[in-house]
Amino acid sequence: MKILVAYFSHKGENYFGGRIIRIEKGNTEKVAEKIRNATGADIYEIRSASPYPETYKETVAAAVAELSGGVRPVLASPMPDVKPYDAVVIAYPNWCGTVPMAVLTFLESADFSGKKIYPVCTHEGSGAGRSVSTIRGAAPGATVNEALEIVGSNADKCDLAVTEYLREHKISL
Ligand SMILES: Cc1cc2nc3c(=O)[nH]c(=O)nc-3n(C[C@H](O)[C@H](O)[C@H](O)COP(=O)(O)O)c2cc1C
Repeated sequence: MKILVAYFSHKGENYFGGRIIRIEKGNTEKVAEKIRNATGADIYEIRSASPYPETYKETVAAAVAELSGGVRPVLASPMPDVKPYDAVVIAYPNWCGTVPMAVLTFLESADFSGKKIYPVCTHEGSGAGRSVSTIRGAAPGATVNEALEIVGSNADKCDLAVTEYLREHKISL
């Protein structure tokens, strides 16, 4: 199985276990790296070309504006060639109940039909929200599995949940 881990993650101020703190490495990035380390998969960061604000409040406002405007942010790095991959793990934070819009840019910029997609969502209480059905809509012809949901502030201690999800879904090289 050839696996790509594609992740979106936001550093800076974040809502973390009930309060706002500054994080140097995003929660989802930590989880994505665990999956990469466990599987030997290739990894790609889905990053908007124009960075989000540093403060949590402004980032939420920017995310709401992108969501309500149906914006597809331009990506900072060229799309990877997804053709060779059988499985794509897409890791992202729950933003306003669904995926950050850059994840939609990513999904709509390539043909994922025939591939298995494994959503991995970090969140602070809402689980994966509407994100799995959003991903299904953006990746026609792909098999989009149920999400692995990780509370973002537990990202350092989620090894067991990650290992179980990978084993349950037989995600290995
Ligand atoms: C713009 C924004 C919107 C968010 N919306 C939600 C939400 O609707 N539900 C939720 O449970 N968490 C929400 N969160 C919290 C994040 O999903 C959570 O902290 C996540 O682990 C952040 O991952 P990251 O550090 O990789 O960006 C939001 C965070 C941000 C910055």
